[in-house]
Amino acid sequence: METTILVTGGAGFIGSNFILHWMAQEKTGVVNLDKLTYAGNLHNLQSISAEQPYQFVRGDICDRDAVRELFARCRPQAVVHFAAESHVDRSIHGPDDFVRTNVNGTFALLEEARAYWAGLSASEQERFRFLHISTDEVFGSLGADDPPFCEITQYSPNSPYSASKAGADHLVRAYHHTYGLPTLTTNCSNNYGPFQFPEKLIPLVILNARNGKPLPVYGDGQNVRDWLFVEDHCRAIRTVLSRGKNGETYNIGGWSEKRNIEIVETICSLLDEMCPNDPVVPHRQLITFVKDRPGHDRRYAMDARKIERELGWKPQETFESGIRKTIQWYLQNDPWVKEVTAGSYRQWIATQYS
Ligand code: NAD
Ligand code: TYD
Repeated sequence: METTILVTGGAGFIGSNFILHWMAQEKTGVVNLDKLTYAGNLHNLQSISAEQPYQFVRGDICDRDAVRELFARCRPQAVVHFAAESHVDRSIHGPDDFVRTNVNGTFALLEEARAYWAGLSASEQERFRFLHISTDEVFGSLGADDPPFCEITQYSPNSPYSASKAGADHLVRAYHHTYGLPTLTTNCSNNYGPFQFPEKLIPLVILNARNGKPLPVYGDGQNVRDWLFVEDHCRAIRTVLSRGKNGETYNIGGWSEKRNIEIVETICSLLDEMCPNDPVVPHRQLITFVKDRPGHDRRYAMDARKIERELGWKPQETFESGIRKTIQWYLQNDPWVKEVTAGSYRQWIATQYS
């Protein structure tokens, strides 16, 4: 077994941040298997130099033959599984791809990982890990005074996205329990930071505000999410991969619950300071309350004490420091923004916000 990790979905938002973080910290090689859907972007990984032990393979996790061949060829010591359809609003418009990739794709990957793992030596089997990246959304919606989600909170997914992720989580659990596959699952709260596709709240608001376009806030804007800077998530994943206990799940969160309207207002205030010459200033004039998302979960909150207690991880960024860095990144990366907002992106925005 080589010292290589197989990353799925490494051209997406969190996956590409993770690969950049991993390559900066570890000697181990990375093979990135990604289908390059609308959400995958190889430009995110441009800074990896040709000398580094990194390889990109375009492929679908549902393609069992391709996945089998890849396991045989790269002989990974771990799989870090990010590949997914990840946007709740898209899952409402078209759930098919969510079930296909998130459930069937995870199943295909687990089956091929199991067959590969079964053929390893005892010591290699001991060392192998299948790390599945999941979300806090599988736990459903909290009331204002409910305690945050912990690892034993009952699953109650409410959207096609969260239901498909819950299905994947259950399969991962079953493969550990039934076949002994060495798995780890992480459930994380909302991420933000560089390279996030601007269909998600934070980058959408930054880009619309800069261009004098409406800032769409669903419903009354009082829905609460916990926010984590993506670099902190990457550190958490690396920590779980190296020290997490076989078969366990870990909740990851930023201890940073915010109402959506607070997020939008914070971005507006920072942009007033950083971009005083934008077409519409103060930017908050652009805030527009729009029709609510169907089945919109009211509140998510994460109890991330287990990973802190057992593995010593906690977030390094506050929301205030992370959001400033994020805005700066979007201001400094105009070519990236221009590229991702061309073409099919416009069609999505027209469909969702018409
Ligand atoms: P993303 O949508 O930005 O990226 C997903 C990546 O997966 C893309 O590169 C895409 O091309 C690839 N992909 C999709 N279908 C594929 C397939 N069938 N085969 C191979 N590759 C495929 O997603 P993200 O925001 O980076 O999220 C990554 C993971 O983290 C997901 O599993 C998501 O559920 C989870 N997660 C995300 C957040 C968040 O706030 N973004 C929070 C918690 C958990
Ligand atoms: P999003 O970034 O889509 O993440 P998720 O739904 O996975 O939490 O949305 C974050 C919150 O922001 C969520 O409560 C929905 C809300 N939202 C808006 O109010 N307006 C928007 O245009 C978007 C995309 C999201």
